[in-house]
Amino acid sequence: MRKKIVAGNWKMNMDLAEGLKFVGSIDKYFKEKPSKRALVILCPTFIHLAGASEILKHGKVALGAQNCSSEASGAYTGEVSAWMIKSTGAEYVILGHSERRTYYHEDDKLINKKTLLAINSGLKVIFCLGEQLTEREAGNHFLIVKRQLEEGLFNLTEEQMDKIVIAYEPVWAIGTGLTATPEQAQEMHKFIRDKVKEKYGNDCAKKLPVLYGGSCKPSNASEIFSKPDVDGGLIGGASLKKEDFAAIVEALL
Ligand code: PGA
Repeated sequence: MRKKIVAGNWKMNMDLAEGLKFVGSIDKYFKEKPSKRALVILCPTFIHLAGASEILKHGKVALGAQNCSSEASGAYTGEVSAWMIKSTGAEYVILGHSERRTYYHEDDKLINKKTLLAINSGLKVIFCLGEQLTEREAGNHFLIVKRQLEEGLFNLTEEQMDKIVIAYEPVWAIGTGLTATPEQAQEMHKFIRDKVKEKYGNDCAKKLPVLYGGSCKPSNASEIFSKPDVDGGLIGGASLKKEDFAAIVEALL
């Protein structure tokens, strides 16, 4: 059976003290109420990683970063490498998020470079893709997602694909309060799995977790998660409130 995952993407929120306090409360919650089926991952900012790793060390919650450099090391002022992230104890990194694609002009080629570097540094990648509203309205959403898959991921080996979690995040649903309907999510998740199957075979496609992201909250999570190709969620806004985040994790049980 596929791994079910709920990952919290904090984005650029919380200072050091607030963040570590929040990590502590999430750690405590899941130690007391471990999720039976879902892997819970927190993705705070870079400044939180080392401290969060210490807090989460003996707990039930995994840790990830939200980005990494496309270079391995050296004179790249302001950058943080995949290997540095790994050295904090984090296991995951989010790549290809639409906010990185849009605001920082990251294209498929760059995201692919980061993905390979992250995997080669021992991280697992939460690889985000999804179409803009205009692309969906024009009926191009499958084409866009196909391109993001092919150019961002499909030069990986089958072994490297084992380190990938895909997050389908329709851009029009991120932080907007609009969500894809469970049917729209299922349709795209199945499309993604079918493409992976064509390229890597059935075993790889069957194992691949495909998460949904975009205004996922306690009131809509269980309906979206009930779809056969939806294996959990990448949660932005609602991951900043313990009760909401916990309720979303529980929606997977
Ligand atoms: P949201 O963000 O849940 O706030 O819509 C999801 C994401 O960007 O990963």
